Amino acid sequence: MAQFFLFDHPLIQHKISILRDKNTSTKEFRELVHEISMLMAYEVTRDLPLTEKVIETPVATTTAKVLAGKKVALVPILRAGLGMVDGMLAIIPSAKVGHIGLYRDPNTLKPVEYYCKLPEDITEREVIVLDPMLATGGSSSAAIQFLKDRGIKNIKFVCLISAPEGIERLQKDHPDVPVFCAAKDERLNDHAYIIPGLGDAGDRLFGTN
Ligand code: PRP
Ligand code: URA
Repeated sequence: MAQFFLFDHPLIQHKISILRDKNTSTKEFRELVHEISMLMAYEVTRDLPLTEKVIETPVATTTAKVLAGKKVALVPILRAGLGMVDGMLAIIPSAKVGHIGLYRDPNTLKPVEYYCKLPEDITEREVIVLDPMLATGGSSSAAIQFLKDRGIKNIKFVCLISAPEGIERLQKDHPDVPVFCAAKDERLNDHAYIIPGLGDAGDRLFGTN
């Protein structure tokens, strides 16, 4: 069974509530996605390995802990995952960024890939897949499968809002991929939208309809 992390930090919960509100503007929505991603990055990177290095402070020589140089790549699922990139980069500035373009076919609700561009050395990196919404799990499961098909083994998935159906699907398809999310909602509606959710994340982020 995949590891599942639900963020109960009050700052994250507060910001998620504003994000859900239909009266929140595109500008504010974008800023909130940025801020929440930044806060989540802190916990998502908790297991990055450390090594030791001798440094000199102004008054003494000491052995200090530094990151062991494990490399990270962020892979947002287009479009809505883009909104999470800058917040994550604020905490992990040396991460490289790949992109996977997927859209849900409105009739079949199945994901269709239309773009994929990844860093050359991605198989050597820990890969963090970003998408604000985990609804049926079709898009994220397909994106993770594309990455695995390209030889990537070390993958985490980070979303803002999830439905039980999507969590179950990801855990079944990819039990090796830990899932981090800021809220677990009640269910999906007949159009596979998350209830209560926040509507269409891509549209709210980019001001489209
Ligand atoms: C949304 C969202 C996810 C997907 C989630 O993208 O950003 O990628 O739906 O749904 P699923 O779990 O049922 O696959 P959408 O297809 O609307 O594309 P967009 O980001 O371009 O708006
Ligand atoms: N995609 C979204 O953007 N919102 C949902 O509720 C479900 C899928």
